[in-house]
Amino acid sequence: MLEGKKVLFSGMQATGTLTLGNYLGALKNWVSLNEQYFCFFSVVDLHSITIRQDPETLRENARNLFALYVAAGLNPEQNCIYYQSHVSGHAQLSWILNCFTYMGELNRMTQFKDKSKKNSENINAGLFTYPILMAADILLYQSDVVPIGLDQTQHLELARDIAIRFNGIYGDTFTVPEAYLGKIGTKIMSLQEPSKKMSKSDTQTNATILLTDDSDTIVRKLKRAVTDLEGKVAYRKEQPGIKNLIDIYCAATDILPEQAEKTFANKGYGDFKMAVAEAIISVLEPIQKRQQSLLKEKEYLDQMIRKNAQKANEHAQKTLVEVEKKIGFPAK
Ligand code: TRP
Repeated sequence: MLEGKKVLFSGMQATGTLTLGNYLGALKNWVSLNEQYFCFFSVVDLHSITIRQDPETLRENARNLFALYVAAGLNPEQNCIYYQSHVSGHAQLSWILNCFTYMGELNRMTQFKDKSKKNSENINAGLFTYPILMAADILLYQSDVVPIGLDQTQHLELARDIAIRFNGIYGDTFTVPEAYLGKIGTKIMSLQEPSKKMSKSDTQTNATILLTDDSDTIVRKLKRAVTDLEGKVAYRKEQPGIKNLIDIYCAATDILPEQAEKTFANKGYGDFKMAVAEAIISVLEPIQKRQQSLLKEKEYLDQMIRKNAQKANEHAQKTLVEVEKKIGFPAK
């Protein structure tokens, strides 16, 4: 509990351009929770270096993501929005939790297996212990809830196991966090192969709407989106392309699939696609504008970054001091 509110933690990696899927599936949910909880939203740059990064690009991407958080509506006055690398407690707690996690547990992580296949030339120890750093992120702030995508549920389970194990040895220390999986239907699929998740690394450029896409690009990609020969805007698994477009439309406009089906009952795919494009543009354009203007106000943004890092550090220290005392480190 902080200021009478439950604590929420989440983070995103600053690697490259985010997609519409990242916004509708994650960021938009965060914004809707950001009043109700005391929130820590981190740009998790320590996680990013598990894969080799170009330093300048990493710095730039991280700053863009920070500005995007604020532009999307996360509140830097009320909540803590910060770079993970600005709070040394993440790395410190991570080391401690390393000593409370078994190799066998890490060996079971499916994301490690996937990532090692993709980065076979650089399977570093950080990639292996990545889930421990994630546990440290969450436990450092005594988080109650953690909004995550389905691909992160195994990591969250591990964070819970570590917390329970530590509490069992030293007495109540960490809040055991719960996953917040968000609304169904926010999993956004590729516009070209609707059986696959929309991904920034997709080689087909028309498959993915990037958060940086301008309106012409969005219209073009929507025009080329895969549909079917049914000719009816219906929400059913037999029409995966149209179903995905309905999901996007509904997530962007906050309506239910049944309502969308009604609205487009007598419309062709061409009209429907244009309506989806417009819905996306009206969501993304204002965010892009705010993000650009924030990035231009260098001093203001720097000050926001400093203030938020300081707040996050204060909260992190409370947990860290208690943990260090419990394990037997000398007082400072
Ligand atoms: N691993 C998460 C992802 O790639 C990002 C992340 C890092 C995170 N630390 C976290 C998410 C803590 C939730 C809580 O999506």
